[in-house]
Amino acid sequence: MSHAVTRALFDEVMVPNYAPAAIIPVKGEGSRLWDQEGREYIDFAGGIAVSCLGHCHPALVKSLTEQGQTLWHLSNVLTNEPALRLAKKLVDSTFSEKVFFCNSGAEANEAALKLARRYAIEHGSKDKTKIIAFEQGFHGRTFFTVTVGGQATYSDGFGPKPGDVEHIPYNDLAALEAIIDDQTCAVMMEPLQGEGGIISPDLAFAKKVRELCDKHNALLIFDEVQTGVGRTGELYAYMGLDVTPDILTSAKALGGGFPIGAMLTTTEIAASMKVGTHGSTYGGNPLACAVAETAYDIVNSEEVLNGVKQREQWFREALDAINEKYQVFSEIRGKGLLLGAVLNEQYQGRARDFLVAAADQGLMVLVAGANVVRFTPSLIVPQADVEQGMQRFEQAVAKVANA
Ligand SMILES: Cc1ncc(COP(=O)(O)O)c(C=O)c1O
Repeated sequence: MSHAVTRALFDEVMVPNYAPAAIIPVKGEGSRLWDQEGREYIDFAGGIAVSCLGHCHPALVKSLTEQGQTLWHLSNVLTNEPALRLAKKLVDSTFSEKVFFCNSGAEANEAALKLARRYAIEHGSKDKTKIIAFEQGFHGRTFFTVTVGGQATYSDGFGPKPGDVEHIPYNDLAALEAIIDDQTCAVMMEPLQGEGGIISPDLAFAKKVRELCDKHNALLIFDEVQTGVGRTGELYAYMGLDVTPDILTSAKALGGGFPIGAMLTTTEIAASMKVGTHGSTYGGNPLACAVAETAYDIVNSEEVLNGVKQREQWFREALDAINEKYQVFSEIRGKGLLLGAVLNEQYQGRARDFLVAAADQGLMVLVAGANVVRFTPSLIVPQADVEQGMQRFEQAVAKVANA
């Protein structure tokens, strides 16, 4: 017996940890989506900063199709050509010398944290286990990564957590100086907090984090799961900060919509991940790596990276113009195409109302906490889609403001 595939089926058969919208998209092309009823949406959410080249980009479809007809899966008992090619490109284009592949951002961060602990124990002492991270940070939902993320609502209620993890406010140098010591194995930070509200680091703070890590022989881990692969207008955000981490994690846009994660580091640090210390059955899967290689080639070009900076301007100008009329935002913040419109006093806690109103107008946006409307569109979203999307957003803002 076949069942109607409706939103009601979600409540019937899915674990209730998500609350998806009432509509079900069935088709995507570029920066547009269509639902089961054929209604069209402009997509400024990009599957939460994932679909860096929009939906069904022809070059990604080609790579997926070709690899799909060639070789799908081996496991890490054998290596494969797409994984080796992608790893070489990541190494050649970043500070890194070694790559570990996995399937998601959380897994990349889990690997980074385990590696940092292992490295510190091997090179310092067995007490060098302290991990310093930041309030409102987000690093994924495995128990280690959610514990290192600085949001109790996500990490509490599951019993005893992995230990020796400390949180301090982002951009608070005095707090870091007070807490970092020779027992610190790593500092983990997003080089622009995404889920926590689109918060940029002060350049001086980022440099000082690096210095303090060096002073105390602690590793600096940059979680670039959301910022990486062109999102900020740099290939990786660390390049714009002029601060080089010891370990960097990448996922989301890396696969352009196909699940993949990667942890990048140096040869010296990577040596602590000896055979058998860590692994993943799917990590480095040929399908994922073939698609990611193509996405990476396209994004890692002056045309796309400069295009992100151009598009940031379009977004900022349109949001400023909307704000002049309706006075709803106190600030537009972020970098590249990771932008947040911060709600002013009058609209505190109502970011979701704007998201819902936008969807009603045929526009997908995101929130970053209760007070920020977040935009993470395709890095190549056409100007016409930005203009039309912003017209729809203006209508949504008008609805909320005039309600
Ligand atoms: C900075 C950051 N790290 C890690 C993650 C987790 O990635 P995933 O959901 O692929 O596990 C996210 C997801 O939003 C993220 O924004």
